[in-house]
Amino acid sequence: MTTRKVFFAAALAVIAHAASAQGDPKRGEKVFEECRACHAIEKGSNGVGPSLHGVIGRRAAELDDFRYSPAFKRANITWTRQNLDAFLADPQKLVPANRMPYAGMPEAKDRADVIEYMQRILK
Ligand code: HEC
Repeated sequence: MTTRKVFFAAALAVIAHAASAQGDPKRGEKVFEECRACHAIEKGSNGVGPSLHGVIGRRAAELDDFRYSPAFKRANITWTRQNLDAFLADPQKLVPANRMPYAGMPEAKDRADVIEYMQRILK
């Protein structure tokens, strides 16, 4: 390989890694439209679902002013990026019998992007 080819291969590897690890928050904002019908991002603003303000790093079912399902109250999880990814992929699998009427987000890229959006914006 020439030096230039090696440089390009390395640069592409870095870009691919950044994209998979981080997600694209701009695109994630659009993906979040699917959630907005039920979830506000403002603090203390609950709709059909609880406010998602600062949800990343928070324990599940922690808001005092939202009536969670018994399933959610029993769920002993913290919303790490990893748990959120598993939940969005298949909500009923991570928290069986929960009351979030959402079938799941099959595309890993959509999940990575929306989680990145939530991480950056919902602080
Ligand atoms: C049709 C309404 C609806 C949609 C759409 C929806 N949710 Fe929910 N969500 C809920 C409800 C209701 C709950 C509470 C479930 C329970 O108590 O069992 C919930 C709970 C959650 C929780 C747990 C919050 C906490 O305080 O523990 C997260 C995180 C969440 N939803 C994320 C999302 C994301 C991200 C999307 C979009 C991809 C989404 N939801 C789409 C209704 C919805």
